[in-house]
Amino acid sequence: MYYPAFEVPFVGGPTLIAVIAITHVFIAHFAVGAGLFNAIVETHALRRDRPLLRQFLHDYSRVIVLLPFILGAVTGVGIWFSIALVAPRATSLLIHNFVWAWAIEWVCFLVEIAAGYVYYYSWDRLSPRRHAAVGWIYAVAAWMSLFVINGIITFMLTPGDWSDRRAAGDYSGAFWTGLFNPTFLPSLLLRSVSCLALAGIFVCVVVNVVPRYSREERTTIIHTASHFLVPLVLMVPAAMWYLGQVPASARGLAFGGAAAMSLFFIFGLTCSVLLAVYAYVALVRKRGYVSLETSLLLAAMAFIATGSMEYVREGIRKPYVVRGYLWSNEIANQPAELARLNAEGVLAHAPWIAPADRRARADRLTRGRWMFDVQCAKCHTIDGLNGVAPLIAGWPRDLIRYNLDHLDKLKGFMPPVVGTPQEKDDLADWLFRLNPVHHEPTASPLASGVEGQRR
Ligand code: HEC
Repeated sequence: MYYPAFEVPFVGGPTLIAVIAITHVFIAHFAVGAGLFNAIVETHALRRDRPLLRQFLHDYSRVIVLLPFILGAVTGVGIWFSIALVAPRATSLLIHNFVWAWAIEWVCFLVEIAAGYVYYYSWDRLSPRRHAAVGWIYAVAAWMSLFVINGIITFMLTPGDWSDRRAAGDYSGAFWTGLFNPTFLPSLLLRSVSCLALAGIFVCVVVNVVPRYSREERTTIIHTASHFLVPLVLMVPAAMWYLGQVPASARGLAFGGAAAMSLFFIFGLTCSVLLAVYAYVALVRKRGYVSLETSLLLAAMAFIATGSMEYVREGIRKPYVVRGYLWSNEIANQPAELARLNAEGVLAHAPWIAPADRRARADRLTRGRWMFDVQCAKCHTIDGLNGVAPLIAGWPRDLIRYNLDHLDKLKGFMPPVVGTPQEKDDLADWLFRLNPVHHEPTASPLASGVEGQRR
């Protein structure tokens, strides 16, 4: 409320974040997994004297420094861009609380990138043992950056007793309990498994693109990589462990409470298990071959699985950004804040949406629109994605007004409406005016047009 509003036409801000963030997670998991893959396979290749694998790792490391490093950095900055514009208060809260975690994260990232470049450029310059050691530095730094960011991401859904500790002035206790929160470990397992699988899948893509390998050599490399997909079966127990740690209301959404969440959850897990079974049966046991097209198909499946699981994680957190503390519309459900907003009005505290000089002169429909911009627009567009106009089409004004007093009961994933009774009246008026078709049927060109076509 205290920040300028950022509107994304038609699809809404959360979709913008989702598109950038899912792409980033996919690329970043690949980068972390590739680090582990290279370190493990290079060590194995040295012990068993398998030059073919080392040759492939050399080729693979070029792809890594070119693709995930660059795309990961670009999309990573993109996440900051989108979350800071769409959810500035939440972003500020995460920065304030986790300043040291972000700093550690940045150092890990820096070491990862530096070691990654040294790794690629030193194949012929370092002894094989030293080179493998650099690979391990890259792998550990990359995984540690996942370790830290995983704490901040899981904090948002399961902050533990962070809020109580903070209220009591125990800021460092709040930091630790927030970072190592109840879903930290299961989420770390889910993400690590996904990292390994993505590294394995992209080996199949890359080995098909580099012309130097014979069919037998490719099969050998794919066979090695396929082992990294098998841990995907752990997705199911890890997801159950994860959901066992989240609040019951959030768990309910994944288990049928919200159809979209449940479906995405099932799709995500099914894709993961299918990939694991395919890798084990066709590649590990039967030593099969994967063509470029099939590898890309596997990568697409992995992308859908990643996107689905991220969507579920974000979705079951609603109506909160930080569960129990900050709602998605950036209002904190803290007694003092709510009392102030209910008494003084929400618009009096939204200077960028309802500027003080225009507030006194604004008519009730303008005020209603401002209320929507402050409290609903983070999740709803007007008539685009999750548009509010079609959702209330045909609702009488009384029903709209009544529901504004019970929005959190109407759907558990919406926060209650905050503000003075007058502000809620204004919002109801504005919402009611969104669907002229339904209360002025004869005057509406749309209604008569549709009728005309039918006849
Ligand atoms: C945290 C996100 C979020 C916020 C904030 C939010 N909504 Fe919603 N709302 C949703 C979602 C998700 C749905 C479900 C849409 C569907 O079922 O297709 C929904 C559904 C609705 C519905 C239809 C409910 C039904 O049972 O048919 C109405 C009406 C509605 N919202 C109005 C509002 C208004 C008015 C505001 C602002 C005061 C608001 N919402 C704020 C997420 C939100």
